[in-house]
Amino acid sequence: MPIPTIEFKNNSIKIIDQTKLPTRYNFIYCKNIQALWKAIRTMQVRGAPALGVAAAFGAYLGIKDFKGNNNQFLKKVKSVIKYLGSSRPTAINLFWALERIQKLAIKNKNKPIKEIKALILKEAKKVFEEDRVISRKMGEYGQPLIKNNDRILTICNAGALATADYGTALALFYKAKEKGKHIKVFACETRPLLQGARLTTWELKKHKIDTTLICDNMAASLMAKGKIDKVITGADRIASNGDAANKIGTYSLAVLAKYHKIPFYIVAPISSFDLKLKTGKGIPIEQRNPNEVTIINNKRIAAKNIKVYNPAFDVTPHELITAIVTENGIIRPPFSRNIQKVL
Ligand code: MRU
Repeated sequence: MPIPTIEFKNNSIKIIDQTKLPTRYNFIYCKNIQALWKAIRTMQVRGAPALGVAAAFGAYLGIKDFKGNNNQFLKKVKSVIKYLGSSRPTAINLFWALERIQKLAIKNKNKPIKEIKALILKEAKKVFEEDRVISRKMGEYGQPLIKNNDRILTICNAGALATADYGTALALFYKAKEKGKHIKVFACETRPLLQGARLTTWELKKHKIDTTLICDNMAASLMAKGKIDKVITGADRIASNGDAANKIGTYSLAVLAKYHKIPFYIVAPISSFDLKLKTGKGIPIEQRNPNEVTIINNKRIAAKNIKVYNPAFDVTPHELITAIVTENGIIRPPFSRNIQKVL
């Protein structure tokens, strides 16, 4: 039962408002790029592949009413893309989708504007459809990594809500279930914005997958007790040596997994790779508002004016990653060589 995270209908982007889940299942309708920018920044829509899909449709929203000549149109495309690219910095899928639209506009720059607009919409729909197919392929390719009765730890939300409708890491769980395997999932709550508690538990429960919620600081004790067989997460940007940025806290899980001799897997589409970067050191890490840490449910939980450190992501060094699952297959070390091969 796919979850319609994002759809394009009647010239507006229909999005499940993820800030309201799990208590309310509401939709928002972005009719212009300002509304979409805000939806991305406030994380009403979030998760790397979903950001790519949203950005592609957003680019169309930004140019669909344009009037003027071809030169001005190309300038407009570029300014819309620059604006949407300023919403969140880490997930490369957002920039990958925007670049795809920009390249298409440049390639067709001499065609009638009406035609270029139609091509841009077609491309955005393609990004959406491709994501649906890619998610399912990753789910399938990842199956050799999942055994019956596996106990799997995950963090953040790398599921349907982070993609068009199916997932990256969670796609492996859904496919496993479709194939009749029984798995037990442990979901880290994922402070500060609780994507694990609010979103992952919601969607896994909907899919009737045996799920246990833990606070982030409980992972080590579960591993020490031998209750975790593997860790599986998504990624927001992967450098060419395999270093991978994902939700803050992922790196700690990878270190813990190494210590406890548990495999640590990443599941991400090829659009999450940034081959321009040699290592993860160059990945831009989003710093978010201190209030996300100091305020919970409108209630202040920390001393007034306390200094806060609030990076949204961290980078897991490739040495800690057992394998990366993509829609082209599983990549194993040495990553520098094998990523090039598979991509
Ligand atoms: O800040 P978010 O909620 O957008 O972070 C999302 C994640 O870290 C996911 O794990 C990542 O995008 C990969 S999921 C498809």
